[in-house]
Amino acid sequence: MTTVEFRTPGALADAEKWTAHNYHPLPVVVAEAEGAWVTDVDGRRYLDFLAGYSALNFGHRHPGLIAAAHAQLDRVTLTSRAFVHDQFAAFCHGLAELCGKELVLPMNTGAEAVETAIKVARKWGYRVKGVADERAEIIVAADNFHGRTTTIVSFSTDPDARADFGPYTPGFVVVPYGDLAAVRAAINPNTVAVLMEPIQGEAGVLVPPAGFLAGVRELCTENNVLMIADEIQSGLGRTGKTFAIEHEDVVPDMYVLGKALGGGIVPVSAVAADRAVLGVLRPGEHGSTFGGNPLACAVGTEVVRLLETGEFQERSARLGARMHAGLEALIGKGVVAVRGRGLWAGVDIDPLLMTGRQACERLAERGVLAKDTHGSTIRLAPPLVVTEEDLDHALAQLAEVLRG
Ligand SMILES: Cc1ncc(COP(=O)(O)O)c(C=O)c1O
Repeated sequence: MTTVEFRTPGALADAEKWTAHNYHPLPVVVAEAEGAWVTDVDGRRYLDFLAGYSALNFGHRHPGLIAAAHAQLDRVTLTSRAFVHDQFAAFCHGLAELCGKELVLPMNTGAEAVETAIKVARKWGYRVKGVADERAEIIVAADNFHGRTTTIVSFSTDPDARADFGPYTPGFVVVPYGDLAAVRAAINPNTVAVLMEPIQGEAGVLVPPAGFLAGVRELCTENNVLMIADEIQSGLGRTGKTFAIEHEDVVPDMYVLGKALGGGIVPVSAVAADRAVLGVLRPGEHGSTFGGNPLACAVGTEVVRLLETGEFQERSARLGARMHAGLEALIGKGVVAVRGRGLWAGVDIDPLLMTGRQACERLAERGVLAKDTHGSTIRLAPPLVVTEEDLDHALAQLAEVLRG
């Protein structure tokens, strides 16, 4: 008899030994992936229902994106912004048009794009709105997640994200998410922006009350305040539209984008706004060595092309309706509540049954990867290329897990 030696335990132990413990991953060691599926080092296959927190909206190794990356790898990969390269304008132009904005500023990670939006809003406040020096205020929502820099965690309300990382950056006012009266009350002449996620992802896929985003838009317009939509997780097809904020027919002054913009291949983020806003930056005031590099732009241009077809938004809306119907059917059978739009759901598991972490561990044992957040909530966000069959299979596995 031959004994099979599994590689997973050793790979997990090595990762544990050699890295900072800033994550608590599921015990799965991925070796390969394609579409909505990943394969671990022992050959087990899993449906990826996290999709890199929406960085993999187009699936793992989408052929068009891989081809664009390969072609660019054979030409030029990095120049820095000290020079212009031939992929830059096409990406910025394409993304600006997708957003309906005049200008784009590319960065790398989501947090960098959020930092960019904050800097631009502050400078706009001083130079355009006329706010007194050092007085600019930005209104944000409780339970937000905008990234991990010291400035961004300064306005986080999550103790894990914030504690021990002070001193904190001033200039942010936190109001309850979805509370329009609180936003109205927080606005004063020093307010330069309202920065919010149109759907709060990390908080558990929280959809604000109907009319909230439209109300914020109105308040911003009335008070000469910039509305900044952090669509890093909610955008680029995830909710059945290009941007989640479109569900309320709202156009923000600034979009903050990331994750799926890099096609699951490279980190690409950006802010998009009109010249009256983004035009405030001058050479030397902001930048990034890697932001807008040729490889990022080549992949990003292909991402924009994929989104221009509308195919992924349509899939997300159609399959999302199927996913939400399937999840609603589990209410009372281990599920307490379901939220979300398109192929994006926050599912509250009955805390008497199990924690979100336990649910994700049991799902992983059944070949479905998902991620818990805050106690008994799990998040489902499959790649938008997921098939109906795969979707039904994953929902059946969840039903089994809840059955115990
Ligand atoms: C809404 C939102 N903003 C910003 C970020 C930060 O992006 P990154 O991890 O690429 O810095 C995230 C990441 O989860 C996010 O969900």
